[in-house]
Amino acid sequence: MSEPLIKQGPVQETSLTLVGSGQAAWALGSALHESGVRVQRVVARPNGRGAALAQRLEASWVPWHADQPLPNHWPPSPDQTGPDQSRVTLLAVSDDALPEVASFFGTDQTDALVHCSGTRSLEDLAVHPARGVFWPILNLSKAVETTWKGAPILIQTEDASLHQTLHHWAHRIGATARDVTEVQRQKLHLAAVMTANFNNILLHWGHLLTQEWGTHRDLFSILSQQLNEFEQNPQDPLTRQSGPAWRGDQQTLESHLRLLQDDPEGTALYRWFSSLIQRLRDQSPT
Ligand SMILES: NC(=O)c1ccc[n+]([C@@H]2O[C@H](COP(=O)([O-])OP(=O)(O)OC[C@H]3O[C@@H](n4cnc5c(N)ncnc54)[C@H](OP(=O)(O)O)[C@@H]3O)[C@@H](O)[C@H]2O)c1
Repeated sequence: MSEPLIKQGPVQETSLTLVGSGQAAWALGSALHESGVRVQRVVARPNGRGAALAQRLEASWVPWHADQPLPNHWPPSPDQTGPDQSRVTLLAVSDDALPEVASFFGTDQTDALVHCSGTRSLEDLAVHPARGVFWPILNLSKAVETTWKGAPILIQTEDASLHQTLHHWAHRIGATARDVTEVQRQKLHLAAVMTANFNNILLHWGHLLTQEWGTHRDLFSILSQQLNEFEQNPQDPLTRQSGPAWRGDQQTLESHLRLLQDDPEGTALYRWFSSLIQRLRDQSPT
């Protein structure tokens, strides 16, 4: 992997083709459109939400399924995009569908090809020499408005012009762009899944256990204390571990398991975490 490229020279305006109409396509498409990046067309499977997304982004709607060639009027000529505009295609499709969908977007179709996955390889876009990754470390959703200000967007590309374009996009939407290698990005993706995605399941249990009284807000201070510590303190969070399993308070563990007796999934989760915590405590030097 080569060193990250240095930004230089004026940024070429882009004409964007967005492929997909799921959560990431809505959130990224909306942010780019609202920040003034021209979304020229939305390409997505006919039965999805592509038409509605195209309308929202004031773009053309191209229904397309990957078992067919791209439509005849593809690609747009330079007169349609404007001679000074670079045609960039952003693939916002499921990770598993990326290689197949990407295979349709060679140099005849687009000037550069980008995906927004945290984990898929840049080489999934090998059909195009100007390829890149634009991965926001955020939960993206159609339903909840994304807070882009200061959010990290990880960029990976070896193409100088595309590098400028991707940094420019991140800047326009108010995010903070950073160049990464493939391994760094994939490890961060794994870390995001294990911390944020898995943690949401624990928040689900927080909700289940408090919903009868609506007391979930009482958990906010302990949760934000933990997040603040994680933000401020570079030490391994294990050095701040507490709770009944860490202390070895057997009666408290049993009392919690009794409270969970009608919840087999909660019981399994509690047992698994408690024995993990005890193993880590036993291995811990402190
Ligand atoms: N959501 C997030 O929080 C988030 C954050 C950062 C990055 N990403 C990345 O964004 C990308 C899209 O994720 P998402 O969350 O938007 O997923 P999603 O909501 O499930 O949407 C997936 C999109 O891919 C399309 N698709 C699936 N299989 C396809 C195929 N074989 N051919 C053509 N289109 C196909 C779907 O079309 P239909 O609508 O027709 O099914 C849909 O438009 C992924 O690479 C993901 O890693 C997501």
